Amino acid sequence: MINIPQTDPYANYLSHKDQIDNAILRVLDSGTYIMGNEVSSFEEEFAKFIGCDFVAGVASGTDAIDLALRSLGIGVGSVVFTVSHTAVATVAAIERTGATPILVDIAPDTYNMDVVCLENAIKAYSDESAAIVPVHLYGHPADMESIMRIADDYGLFVVEDCAQAHGASILNKKVGTWGHLSAFSFYPTKNLGALGDAGAVASNDLHLIEKVRHLQEYGWTKRYISEMPGINSRMDPIQAAVLRIKLTRLDEENKKRNISAEIYNDAFSILNIQLPYVKNDVSHVFHQYVVRVEHRDELREFLYERGISTGIHYPLPVHQQPAYNGRIVIHDHLKHTEAISSNILSLPMYSELSSVDVDMVIREIMRWYDSKLRYF
Ligand SMILES: Cc1ncc(COP(=O)(O)O)c(C=O)c1O
Repeated sequence: MINIPQTDPYANYLSHKDQIDNAILRVLDSGTYIMGNEVSSFEEEFAKFIGCDFVAGVASGTDAIDLALRSLGIGVGSVVFTVSHTAVATVAAIERTGATPILVDIAPDTYNMDVVCLENAIKAYSDESAAIVPVHLYGHPADMESIMRIADDYGLFVVEDCAQAHGASILNKKVGTWGHLSAFSFYPTKNLGALGDAGAVASNDLHLIEKVRHLQEYGWTKRYISEMPGINSRMDPIQAAVLRIKLTRLDEENKKRNISAEIYNDAFSILNIQLPYVKNDVSHVFHQYVVRVEHRDELREFLYERGISTGIHYPLPVHQQPAYNGRIVIHDHLKHTEAISSNILSLPMYSELSSVDVDMVIREIMRWYDSKLRYF
C-alpha cells in the first residue's frame, strides 16, 4: 500500500536520529532547560547562516513577528501592510501587537505581495505609523528590492516573514537580511524544523535585537526589573540543540527539495497544470510545491484514495476566515488572492521524499489526467 505524506518531519528526524538523540541527552545533562549556551550557540550559527549580525531565539514564529514589530514601536494606532494569502499566523501576530493589519493583493505569478497594490495601499494610509510584513510564501522570496525601495520612499519599517523560506535568497542575499528585522518559525514541518515550537528574530540592528530580548522576557532589562510590558517567549535549549544539528544539513536538504521540484516540473510540463513560477534572480527553497489545477478537489480525492496526501495552503485567504471576515481591512479588491484558493494544490514535498515516491505521485497524476481526458 502506498503511503506518501504531504510533508514528513518524522522522516527528517530519523535521518539525523543519532546526532539529535545525543544532543538532547547533552541538554538533559546540562541542567539548563531555558535559553542558555545551547540557545546562544544556535543564535550565532543561524545568524552566520543567513548572513546577518544578530539573532534572538524565541518560542514560535508567531511570537517572532509580534516581537519584531513591537521592538519597532508598532502597536495600537499603527497600521501594518501584509497579504491575505498567508498563514493566519502572520495576521494574528500583527493584531496581537494592537496594530491594524491592512491586507493587499498578491502577484498572480509568485503568489507573493504585489508591490503596486502595496504602494497604492500605503498612499491611502499615509498618515499612520506603519510597517510592511512581506511573506516569502512557499519558499519563494517576495520582491524585496521593490519592497525596500517603497519602504524607504514612505519611511516605513519592514519585518520579513521568513517562516517558509529558510535559506532562500535574492541575488545571493538570503531572505531575512533585507528588512529591518525578520521572523522565522521552526515549526516541525518547516525547512528548518524543531521537534516542537520555536522561532527566531534576526536583524543587523543590535538595539532592535536587544529590545526583542527584553520584550521576550517580561520586558526585563535585568532580572525581575521590567522596563516595558513584555511577554514570555523563550527558546528552549532542546529545540536549539536539534536546530543546530539540522542547520548543518539545511542547504543540502533545500537542494533535495529543488531536485524533486525539477522532476515534478519536467513531468507535468505536458499537462494542463500551472507549475510553480521561479523568478530568475532568486533561489527557491520549495517549502511547498504548489500547482494550480482544474477539478482540484477531484484530483485530491483520487490521490488520497491511492495513499498520496496533498495539502491546500490555504483553503481560505485570511480576510475570508470566519474570525476575520467583515472586520479585517483589505485594500481594494483582492482579485488574485481570491482567485487561487479554489485551485491550488500542494503536492508531497519534503527533503526525505524519495525519487521513487516522486515518480509514484507523477504516475498517479498522469493516470488521473488520462482518465479525465475522456470526460473533459
Ligand atoms: C507564513 C507563516 N508565518 C508565520 C507562521 C507562524 O509560525 P509558528 O507556527 O511557529 O507560530 C507560519 C507557520 O505556520 C507561517 O507559515
